Amino acid sequence: EQINKGNYEHYMQKEIHEQPESLTTTMRGRLIRGGSSKAKTVLLGGLKDHLKTIRRSRRIVFVGCGTSYNAALAARPILEELSGVPVTMEIASDLVDRQGPIYREDTAVFVSQSGETADTLHALEYALENGALCVGITNTVGSAIARHTHCGVHINAGAEIGVASTKAYTSQMVVMAMLALAIGGDAISSQAKRDAIIDGLFDLPNKVREVLKLDQEMKDLAKQLIAEQSLLVFGRGYNYATALEGALKVKEVALMHSEGMLAGEMKHGPLALVDENLPIIVIATHDACFSKQQSVIQQLHARKGRLIVMCSKGDAASVCPGQSCRVIEVPQVEDCLQPVVNIVPLQLLAYHLTVLRGYNVDQPRNLAKSVTTQ
Ligand code: G6P
Repeated sequence: EQINKGNYEHYMQKEIHEQPESLTTTMRGRLIRGGSSKAKTVLLGGLKDHLKTIRRSRRIVFVGCGTSYNAALAARPILEELSGVPVTMEIASDLVDRQGPIYREDTAVFVSQSGETADTLHALEYALENGALCVGITNTVGSAIARHTHCGVHINAGAEIGVASTKAYTSQMVVMAMLALAIGGDAISSQAKRDAIIDGLFDLPNKVREVLKLDQEMKDLAKQLIAEQSLLVFGRGYNYATALEGALKVKEVALMHSEGMLAGEMKHGPLALVDENLPIIVIATHDACFSKQQSVIQQLHARKGRLIVMCSKGDAASVCPGQSCRVIEVPQVEDCLQPVVNIVPLQLLAYHLTVLRGYNVDQPRNLAKSVTTQ
């Protein structure tokens, strides 16, 4: 067991730190940079015979649970933008509970690290009965979801042992960015955007390597938060998912109450919780939502909120209203890839909080890696 952990103390720690390598493996052979005359493009072998059908779908429905659902949520905006097909989100158990509408003209994409989650599998059976084209995105070759879907993509992140998903999450987001590029096809209007994303994907492992250097900083932050009862995380746009996933990591392993919230909803309730004691992480990296997040920070500051702001490198002075505000500066990447970078400090924070609080990092209380019962 110690051998598998290499120089690390825990699997979660190892899996967080090996993300530059797991992301490289996920992309291997799938991104074509093109020569001087050739366009940059994406090749997803498992989907190539189905792309036309997917492009013609009436709707793309993402289905998953936990971290896998959050990964799909992070990919939703770029898929909508590049494909032009409406994208809806379903938590697997809720889709089954509601017997929600799934049609023959839909493409349903099932996202699951293990490929064995009972809720997701039941939702898949339901979508198959309703005649949708079913696509699987899993980390496990030969898993039930990989076998029962019509086509799919393996994320190739390597075995993930820690119960809290880390490297699978970032690889899932990268696969779904590639899925958006593949479905988007070769429309001239989005060529520049697609080229920028492909260049960004090539460089992503380096950016993740860079953000991992925040390890000690996140340990220091964890020391400050060790005795807190609660932690809020506000995000929006591409990073709404980052807020949900960051909070999920903290509650799963550090056993601390934590909620990820859509910053646009702040004034519709959560603002009542704000005081000088409750720590609040605001994700305000530079993208189309930046100025709205600046105004959220101002509003929280005006109510004496205890702020921790995640921003792009160089933005600290413009986002932080006062000296009391703590900053996490991260490298800036293409907006749709920013969630891959932004989640890393929050994974590190959850990890260090857990160790400092003395809880079991790799086997959190009451949780299982793969939930195979409903
Ligand atoms: C369990 C795990 C979570 C995971 C979820 C979905 O709850 O503890 O970490 O995100 O299942 O698992 P899947 O294998 O379908 O991605």
